[in-house]
Amino acid sequence: MDFGGANGYKESIPNALSFKEPVMAITAGSPLPHAKFKIMTETGPAEISTDELFKGKKAVLFAVPGAFTPTCTNSHLPGFLHHAADLKAKGVDVIACTSVNDVFVMDAWSKASGAKGTITFLADGNGDFAKAVGLELDGAPIGFGIRSKRYAMFLDDGVVKKLHVEDTPGTAIESSAEKLLSDL
Ligand code: BEZ
Repeated sequence: MDFGGANGYKESIPNALSFKEPVMAITAGSPLPHAKFKIMTETGPAEISTDELFKGKKAVLFAVPGAFTPTCTNSHLPGFLHHAADLKAKGVDVIACTSVNDVFVMDAWSKASGAKGTITFLADGNGDFAKAVGLELDGAPIGFGIRSKRYAMFLDDGVVKKLHVEDTPGTAIESSAEKLLSDL
């Protein structure tokens, strides 16, 4: 992007600062865009792609507006933890949670919630995935910056088969584990 600055300025503008048109929200029937997340491994933070996570698998991916926030911690995440065995019994190979938080926050939340090892925590620190699926949330009015809407999707081989998006970030009903289970 050219901001008309001094020589070399053009190349130094990172993608995250470029002004892109918002993407239409993804819908059932569409493949997930290729994207990368950060995950915590035994040796520290690492990168993982949507292909590595979801290709050839049945998966549930749910997104929250923030790790450790009230609805996410007290209702949304516990629902998926509680129903993990039920989801697996219906053929789900992977249960993953994403949020626009850094990998250290996501790892701390996975431990504090007791979900580490059952749910895969995917840090979307710059919100690239949230933007790519058109499900970003403008949390600026409450001091959150750009986050992800709250949603849950069922994926088969990386293709969205079911998608439930909440209208408000403080509600986890449409996007609950119970609702998604009733789809399967
Ligand atoms: C919540 O988890 O309750 C919440 C998260 C972000 C914005 C508003 C509410």
